[in-house]
Amino acid sequence: MNAIDYKHAVVYQIYPKSFCSHAGHATGDIAGILTKLDYLSWLGVDYLWLTPVYASPQRDNGYDISDYYAIDPAYGSMGDLERLIAAARDRGIGIVMDIVVNHTSTDHAWFKAACESRDNPYRDYYLWRDQPNGWQSKFGGSAWHFHEATGQYYLHLFDKTQADLNWRNPRLRAAIFEMMRFWADKGIAGFRLDVINLISKDPTFADDDGDGRSRYTDGPAVHDYLQAMHREVFAGRELLTVGEMSSTRIDECVRYSNPERRELTMTFSFHHLKVDYPGGDKWQAAPFDFIELKRILSEWQTGMHDGGGWNALFWCNHDQPRVVSRFGDDGAQRVAAAKMLATALHLLQGTPYIYQGEEIGMRNPGFADIDSYRDVETLNIYREKVAAGVARDDIMAAIRQKSRDNGRTPMPWNDSLNGGFSTGEPWISLAPDWHEVNVEAARRDPDSVVHRYRELIALRKSLAVVRDGRYRCLSPDHARIWAYTRELADERLLVVCNFYGSSVDYRLTDDAIPRGWRHETLFGGTAPPPLLRLGPYEALVWRLRPYQN
Ligand code: GLC
Repeated sequence: MNAIDYKHAVVYQIYPKSFCSHAGHATGDIAGILTKLDYLSWLGVDYLWLTPVYASPQRDNGYDISDYYAIDPAYGSMGDLERLIAAARDRGIGIVMDIVVNHTSTDHAWFKAACESRDNPYRDYYLWRDQPNGWQSKFGGSAWHFHEATGQYYLHLFDKTQADLNWRNPRLRAAIFEMMRFWADKGIAGFRLDVINLISKDPTFADDDGDGRSRYTDGPAVHDYLQAMHREVFAGRELLTVGEMSSTRIDECVRYSNPERRELTMTFSFHHLKVDYPGGDKWQAAPFDFIELKRILSEWQTGMHDGGGWNALFWCNHDQPRVVSRFGDDGAQRVAAAKMLATALHLLQGTPYIYQGEEIGMRNPGFADIDSYRDVETLNIYREKVAAGVARDDIMAAIRQKSRDNGRTPMPWNDSLNGGFSTGEPWISLAPDWHEVNVEAARRDPDSVVHRYRELIALRKSLAVVRDGRYRCLSPDHARIWAYTRELADERLLVVCNFYGSSVDYRLTDDAIPRGWRHETLFGGTAPPPLLRLGPYEALVWRLRPYQN
């Protein structure tokens, strides 16, 4: 496949810390990833996105980079990474590096120099103020931390060891672009850009009536910076570039990803993953709002299509709980629910991302005790809530459902020691079901989740309608069914999914299948349209074409 044919591509996200340890250590390594390339190639994915493997004190699992040019020894060496790039390329797979340029670790040489004095040439690589404003850190508390020795506060939208960079400084921008060219020249196939829509802050640092996010989200110069990045790094190279967009809007994402604007290839947005945040509060255990989920995904499908933008499609990543536990069923109907969720997502327009373990239907581990958790965000919130007097049971119920560690348990490869992840004691426990839910068991069973993922990946490559068809929602208000079509001139897909655990009858609207068209079953479906009976978590998919074709 052409390296930039991202419209037919599927990306697989690897969280190296939890993927596979070749060395038998607590954390995974690059050599471990190399041993799994045959599996990934069998699955059929085109790109591997690696979350950060650069040198880092690992306060935020590598999103706190202390040296952009070095590999963290826990993951291996630059030689290992070069071997991975070459071995993946031999299998037609490109490596996408995760680049964090909104902030660096406070252990980065730039920040250390910036701390030496107020007139150090690196001072202006970061954002300093005499007084904090009201902006809040996304990991809790004020976004400003006082630096005693120089008597000023620096901005950190995330942990206090992640200092925000000053993109208004042209020297900083030049240094970032140079670093990105270094990686592009290594032969990687793309970049995933961490929280990239936060890099341009309102220079007045004014407060808003909330946590400050409206002053730095999709900020004043962000499109200029990305166009500069395109000119300086992406132009003339075949790269997939995907931006992580925090609290963004559709019109902004159209701008980021419409090819005519020369910014990025596609964007991640998160609104559809906030449907279980009651009143916007992540840290409350709550069921998800299904109607809202459909509404948001439908709006993004149509808005991005019409504006010529491109969506990155995803249910899971290293910051999210497991989707089968979240929007499906992690009990008796786990397999059906995981297949249905995969089908619903992969037949939308965009580029699907599969997060390690999603393809075997991994569930949340359900850790009951705070000592089982490792994530800085989780530990901060726990401390904050305890200090505020919230009952421990309530906090733990929310953490069990929402913690980022739900998606970070080690990948279970088989039912040997530690699921084949490592011969050493893992840095975080495996999910307790690994004897049952592991790659080897999934591959052996032809009805398992992994085979559905493989079929969906293949389908995307063979059908133009999956790539180009316009999306139309048929069931916006139905309490249990998400039905949609994808429409091209003489080809349609009809997708009908039951998001709940009991059977349901559903009558298709008259316009779902044009008169005189025939239907070919792609998934499920003994009862022909228009009167459907769907089993628990069943997904039915038809390909529709006029009779003469
Ligand atoms: C992104 C990453 C997340 C990290 C944060 C700060 O949201 O996905 O893991 O904590 O940025 O870098």
